[in-house]
Amino acid sequence: MHTDVNKILITREGLADRVQQLGREMTTLYLGLDSPLIIITVLNGSMVFMADLIRHMPITMNLGVLGVSSYAGATTRSQGAKIVMQLDTDIRDRHVLVIDDILDTGNTLRLIHEDLGKLKPASLRTAVLLRKPARAPSDVTVEFIGFDIEDRFVVGYGLDFDGRYRNLPYIGVLKPDCYQASAAGTEPAGRTM
Ligand code: XMP
Repeated sequence: MHTDVNKILITREGLADRVQQLGREMTTLYLGLDSPLIIITVLNGSMVFMADLIRHMPITMNLGVLGVSSYAGATTRSQGAKIVMQLDTDIRDRHVLVIDDILDTGNTLRLIHEDLGKLKPASLRTAVLLRKPARAPSDVTVEFIGFDIEDRFVVGYGLDFDGRYRNLPYIGVLKPDCYQASAAGTEPAGRTM
C-alpha cells in the first residue's frame, strides 16, 4: 500500500469484478443499437475506469471526451463546475453514455447533463465508478453505480489529489496529512482536469 494511503477501500480485484459486471449490464442494455453507442469520458479521473469498462463491452461504440474543472488548484474549495474542454463528437440523435469517476456534490454531472441534453441525444445515461451517498443530491440521476462509499477523500484507479495517485490500482483513503499540509488545509473538493 502507498505510504500516503490510510486504508484500501476497494481492492484491485473488487474493482475488476464490479467493472466487468457493469460492462455486461451495459452490453445487454445497448446491444443492437442501429448506430454506435457514444461513450463520453469525463477527463481525467474517469480514464482508467473507462479503459477497463469498454473492454467488457463487445458492441460498436465511438469514444469522446469532455473536460470539466471545478477548482483552480489542488487545495482550494470547489467553485462550481466549468466545462473547460468541449465535446469533440456530434451526439444529436445518438445514444450517449457518460462515464465519470465519482458522484460527490453532483455539481459536475448536473452541468454535464444540462449541456449534453441541449445537444439532443437520443438517450443520455451516466455511469459513475463511485458515489458518496451522504453528499449526492437527489436531482442528479445516474443509471450505473460501481460502489457507494463513505464520505472520505479517496484516490487511485484514476482519482487524484494534486494530479497524483491516479495510477494506484485500488481505491484508497488519502491520509489527511497529505492535504492538510497544503495551503488551505481542508479536505479537497472538486477536480482539476
Ligand atoms: P462533484 O460531484 O462534487 O465531483 O461535482 C466533482 C469531482 O471532484 C472530484 N472528487 C474527488 N476526487 N477523490 C478524488 O480524487 C474524492 O474523494 C473526490 N470527490 C470528488 C472528482 O473528480 C469529481 O468528478
